[in-house]
Amino acid sequence: MNYNRKILDLQARAMKLKKEKNALVLSHLYQRPEIQDIADLVGDSLGLSQAAARTDNPVIIFCGVHFMAESAKILSPEKTVVLPEASAGCRMADMITLRGLREMKAKYPGVPVVCYVNSSAALKAESDICCTSRNAVKVVESVEGDTVLFVPDRNLAAYVATKTAKKVIAWEGYCPTHENILAADVKRLQREHPDALTMVHPECTPEVIALADRVFSTQGMLNFAKENPAKTFIVGTEVGILHQLKKDNPDKMFLFPTEKEQICPNMKSTTLQKVVWALEELEPQITVPEEIRLRAVHALEKMLAIG
Ligand code: 13P
Ligand code: SF4
Repeated sequence: MNYNRKILDLQARAMKLKKEKNALVLSHLYQRPEIQDIADLVGDSLGLSQAAARTDNPVIIFCGVHFMAESAKILSPEKTVVLPEASAGCRMADMITLRGLREMKAKYPGVPVVCYVNSSAALKAESDICCTSRNAVKVVESVEGDTVLFVPDRNLAAYVATKTAKKVIAWEGYCPTHENILAADVKRLQREHPDALTMVHPECTPEVIALADRVFSTQGMLNFAKENPAKTFIVGTEVGILHQLKKDNPDKMFLFPTEKEQICPNMKSTTLQKVVWALEELEPQITVPEEIRLRAVHALEKMLAIG
């Protein structure tokens, strides 16, 4: 990637500060390219929480959204966890409240709750187990009984329901960025590129998922594109993933069906300048009340044990 002088200077500053502060910089695959390129690890939600749980670095700079940094703090409470842009939330996570989950649980007493990590610590604390897009099917299969409550993503829930015999009762949340991806646009690209393989994220609508050759987490898409000999891929997720896809596969083509809409504004609100400030000041820090953390950590650790 050809960066301008200002970006190169900021990157050099970030690399120096990382060493000085003994900080681990984690970046989600939807972050800006210039941030991904200074990170120690770029990955999906599962890979990043695994890294946060096992690191020895005393400081974690989490380039992603709030729930991701919060999960890191829940798993590593003794570490300083910094989210460079304090307002970087997740619009799906905001679609459910603790009260809403409690009402759902009251309606289905005794039914276990599987909570997508795209949720607040308070929600995780009220759930039996967490999942990410990579392990959702495995997690649902792991819980006892023939029914689960699944919060907050209705699309991931609907996808999981097609892969398990269990009944999946979903909360009606969704990711606006993934719902923006239109089946009509996917079909158009498939007509124009008949040899292309279509890989989509399970946060996409069932209509889009029905058109896909494969359904993956963001890391799953990276692995698949690298290993598969196909030369053209239609990609149903946030456009930030293109940076690693192109790095890994410079000779392959990646097409985004509703490209201008496949952007998560929250993920893009973190800038390289803010990452440098975060490294300098070790602010804004993520905190989780201990009473909530102690309950939420069970749900996350149960998920990590499944892998
Ligand atoms: P992944 O866990 O697949 O990276 O997804 C995270 C996310 O927020 C998708 O919108
Ligand atoms: Fe949340 Fe969607 Fe952004 Fe992922 S892409 S962080 S689910 S709003």
